[in-house]
Amino acid sequence: MHIQFSQSRPQSARLVAQVTDKGKLPEGLEKALAEGAESARFKGKAGQLFEGFVERDGQVLRLALAGAGDRNDEARLANCEKAGAALAAKYQSIGDAELVLDLAGSSLSAEEAASVLLGLRLRNWRYDIYRTTMKDEQKVTLATVTVVGAPEGTEAAWDELTHLAAGVEFTRELITEPANILYPESFVERCRERFAGTGAEIIVLDEAEMEKLGMGSLLGVGLGSDRESRILAIRWDGGEAGAAPTAFVGKGVTFDTGGISIKPGPGMEDMKWDMGGAGAVAGAMLALAGRKAKANIVGVMGLVENMPDGKAQRPGDVVTSMSGQTIEVLNTDAEGRLVLADALHWTQEEFKPARVLDFATLTGAMIIALGHEFAGVFSNDDELARQLHEAGEATGDRNWRLPIGPAYDKLINSPIADMKNIGGRAAGSITAAQFLQRFIADGTPWAHVDVAGMVWSDKPGRTWGKGATGYGVRLLDRFVRDTIEG
Ligand code: BES
Ligand code: MN
Ligand code: ZN
Repeated sequence: MHIQFSQSRPQSARLVAQVTDKGKLPEGLEKALAEGAESARFKGKAGQLFEGFVERDGQVLRLALAGAGDRNDEARLANCEKAGAALAAKYQSIGDAELVLDLAGSSLSAEEAASVLLGLRLRNWRYDIYRTTMKDEQKVTLATVTVVGAPEGTEAAWDELTHLAAGVEFTRELITEPANILYPESFVERCRERFAGTGAEIIVLDEAEMEKLGMGSLLGVGLGSDRESRILAIRWDGGEAGAAPTAFVGKGVTFDTGGISIKPGPGMEDMKWDMGGAGAVAGAMLALAGRKAKANIVGVMGLVENMPDGKAQRPGDVVTSMSGQTIEVLNTDAEGRLVLADALHWTQEEFKPARVLDFATLTGAMIIALGHEFAGVFSNDDELARQLHEAGEATGDRNWRLPIGPAYDKLINSPIADMKNIGGRAAGSITAAQFLQRFIADGTPWAHVDVAGMVWSDKPGRTWGKGATGYGVRLLDRFVRDTIEG
């Protein structure tokens, strides 16, 4: 979506939107519209819409009022996003290519106006490249938003947010792509293309290099796949030279059949988004590099496809991780932790990070515990967990901490190896976190974010339609802004 700023309403546009505060219609509003809004019980609540037709300067316009809620609401920016998102949801496919956002006389600050635009752009995103027979009425027609009467500073505020939007969109694109298109090598290629010219450095490990490093845990997951595994690291050094980076590590299982412990058929297609953690890391890196964040960050993605095959690993196999610790693979469907074990260890060896945050669609049990409202956070560091929580509250990428500790850790001891890759039925998301913690060096602040319930949505949400949400990008961008740059 193209967003542009103009002094006056383009003559060609027929669709105009104004943003209104709760209980306060715009001054000078045409009588028919003002009375219509009242009889339709339009109050200007956040995300509420009302539309009618008015005649202005001899032209008939379709005029939409979008509510931004109470001016003093503490969720004001989120409410402004809702106003923008509601406009995109309603006018995305009505046939008009241009929407004029008329902010003259609105109470919005520049930051609030930029939030309306963010909601518009994010909610308008769709990925229709594989739909060749779509009817005209279904196609996205809204392509341009022209902002008139914007408060001073809106353009600069929006410029800053475009990088965040691009990051969220990139994550959604990666998550939406099917697994025959997006597999470890093509994931890497897509990132190479997208990061060209950003100044970020791309580092890739192929299977031969991973074998040399002893990554038997990660490589074991890919044994059944014809697609080669990869580790991808994207490095952005915008901070103090030589300062230890913050590492983001993502689970990038480009498809998870379960392997020999194969999953049931219904719903298995969802496992194309089992790379959602890696997708969030890639999108966050794009946002950070795009806005030239003053921080040293490395994003590491463990990219593997989990397939059943004559060469696939079996339940009961014992693998040796790069850390030297051995793992009894009791269930080949608990593969994410096997991928992360080596990705986490390598990240610490290679980059000596000041803190490590991992993102993974790790357990179905996470969805049972928290549904689709919060991601689960597991951490050895109170401060880090608090910072993540605050960044979540500020951006809408919400998360909630759960406990870890020795009583859970012992549930993954194995009689034949150093650990097994599943606990019992109890506390499945916690035992998965305990497994990961065994690959974190003592003293390294670490948080694991289980995003299984967050990366995909079966129904439209705040700033997304059905499908990929882009969860994690805004969380990480905000975390970096507030705790590293701040
Ligand atoms: N990718 C899945 C977890 C998942 C399930 C994410 C549904 C999103 C939606 C993961 O690899 C997995 O299969 N986990 C198993 C672990 C079990 C075998 C201990 C699970 O959750 O059932
Ligand atoms: Mn699995
Ligand atoms: Zn998985």
